[in-house]
Amino acid sequence: MRLGVLVSGRGSNLQAILDAIAAGALEAEVSAVVSDKPDAPALQRVEKDVAVVVPRKDPRFEETIASVLEERGVELVVLAGFMKILSPWFLERFAGRIINIHPSLLPSFRGLHAQRQALERGVKISGCTVHWVDENLDGGPILAQTAVPVLGGDTEESLSERILAEEHRILVETIANITHTKKNS
Ligand code: GRF
Repeated sequence: MRLGVLVSGRGSNLQAILDAIAAGALEAEVSAVVSDKPDAPALQRVEKDVAVVVPRKDPRFEETIASVLEERGVELVVLAGFMKILSPWFLERFAGRIINIHPSLLPSFRGLHAQRQALERGVKISGCTVHWVDENLDGGPILAQTAVPVLGGDTEESLSERILAEEHRILVETIANITHTKKNS
């Protein structure tokens, strides 16, 4: 399955996908990595011809991203730390083909700084969620979730790190499941 991964930063979830493909654990190909930030470290994780920068100030921002994904035959769009909310127009164009990884047990703690929100609320268990993307912010149907304990003395950094390890695991597992379902349909 041809993947288009949208990123804005570090790209550790992208790396987990690349590692799983390299290990033969995921039958997929990363056909495009699109970043809205020219300096995103994620871009360095793939060959130059796979990486594409579409700056937010591009007047045809979403149209350009959509063209890149379609030209490369992308079948599943993975939002992996992509920090821009996509419009209904884009979501409609890729309806049923976009997933997102979010660092909380949705529907708790939608939006930015989910780990900080969890700490501030004092929950004892947080986690991460992979879900289909629809027009509701972090609100589409849930595909996979894993719980992660919040420990005494946790900081935003330590909790984020513990959750991140699980993000990598469930994101790869979910993509593998979608790949299998598609192959057998
Ligand atoms: C992850 O915590 C992801 O859940 C959130 O942004 C972070 C991206 O991390 N949406 P990375 O760029 O994949 O390392």
